[in-house]
Amino acid sequence: MPAPVVSSQSTQEGQSLIIQPPASGLSLQGRIRVPGDKSISHRALMLGAIAHGETTIEGLLLGEDPRSTASCFRALGARISELNTKFVRVRGIGLGELQEPVDVLNAGNSGTTLRLMLGLLASHPGRFFSITGDSSLRSRPMSRVVKPLQEMGAQIWGRKNNSLAPLAVQGQPLRGIHYHSPIASAQVKSCILLAGLLAEGKTTVTEPALSRDHSERMLKAFGAEISVDLETLSATVTGGGQLQGQPVIVPGDISSAAFWLVAAAIVPDSELYIENVGVNPTRTGILDALAKMGANIQLENHREVAGEPVADLRVRSSQLQACEIAGDLIPRLIDEVPILAVAAVFAQGTTVIRDAAELRVKESDRIAAIALQLNRLGAKVTELPDGLEIVGGTPLIGIDVESYADHRIAMSLAIAALNASGTTTVRGAEAAAISYPEFTTTLQQVCQNS
Ligand code: S3P
Repeated sequence: MPAPVVSSQSTQEGQSLIIQPPASGLSLQGRIRVPGDKSISHRALMLGAIAHGETTIEGLLLGEDPRSTASCFRALGARISELNTKFVRVRGIGLGELQEPVDVLNAGNSGTTLRLMLGLLASHPGRFFSITGDSSLRSRPMSRVVKPLQEMGAQIWGRKNNSLAPLAVQGQPLRGIHYHSPIASAQVKSCILLAGLLAEGKTTVTEPALSRDHSERMLKAFGAEISVDLETLSATVTGGGQLQGQPVIVPGDISSAAFWLVAAAIVPDSELYIENVGVNPTRTGILDALAKMGANIQLENHREVAGEPVADLRVRSSQLQACEIAGDLIPRLIDEVPILAVAAVFAQGTTVIRDAAELRVKESDRIAAIALQLNRLGAKVTELPDGLEIVGGTPLIGIDVESYADHRIAMSLAIAALNASGTTTVRGAEAAAISYPEFTTTLQQVCQNS
């Protein structure tokens, strides 16, 4: 019996994913689904919790991050049924009604949970909240949300001049501001807009480039007074209204689909069909970047589901070409840069990724992490202060690599290993469960026909 292409092993330190492509070559085939969109899952739970009445959620991501959001909002008084991909019921408590929890709120590994929730907590006068997270989250910058919230009148304390969690929040009446964000960050934008729901007057956020707009879409669907100006890249909410619970259908996460798009593109003779993927234009930078590189990807059955565009994606392998990725494209593919770096390793020519310094403050320093680990596999990757330079075309040879407890680094390395000779062991592969608990099962499924 030949060794399985994909196997996993539990160690004292965690889970290792072992990838051993057959010497005769591999081809990936199949029809797959990816789990629910992480950003939309967080927002459905949060808006459901602060709305009046009932919100139902179909297709919720059952990853660790949305679980953190659900547990925080349960502690704040919302009634959220057992998490399930089929159907979750949230009984909201109404705007301004979050309860003071008797313990510290724990956002785990999730920046979206902590930053969005902070905007809501800061605007609950007379209540005190403390929030923490895991070691990665406790090292990530919070001043990007603390400072504008303080401008609105918030009282927030934390380590390093109020910039690091654990954070303490004494809720205050807030006033609306016009905030010009120096970074294109949906977490910053959403935090300020959520704070604006309870602030006096109007709250506007203007960003330097358009970041994902799931909050704006969902706030509108829940009945918030919100307007968006695409010319000035601004969104405005008016405080004092109410939200009404809604049925939400969560599409598949394009950030998870990205692993299969690149896998099928780089492994010769592959074809994958990925059903039900969210293709919101603020998230499809990965499709644009891969198209620039000559990938063969088709969108089929384009449709709109609960206010979000959705399509099925067909990808076939092709010889990729290097390209330059920078500017306004970056916020539209920010979470996909590690897997895009893997695509670039197998492309002809030198790919340059710039304007992506934000990657240094994600779940890990993703620029350093992906460069170092791909180089250990034999790639030629150079770190730039704000990106990567990748010389494509050097063969990879399997070795032990490290996830840095970062879900997207773990999965990107596993995909790179499909095209390496010999055996690759991805250490810390359990991190994938943050956003994609079924990753290993689907990987085994698409490798099965080889
Ligand atoms: C997210 C926004 C992005 C992204 C993160 C999810 C969101 O972060 O990287 O995975 O759901 O709003 P930034 O807003 O910090 O860029």
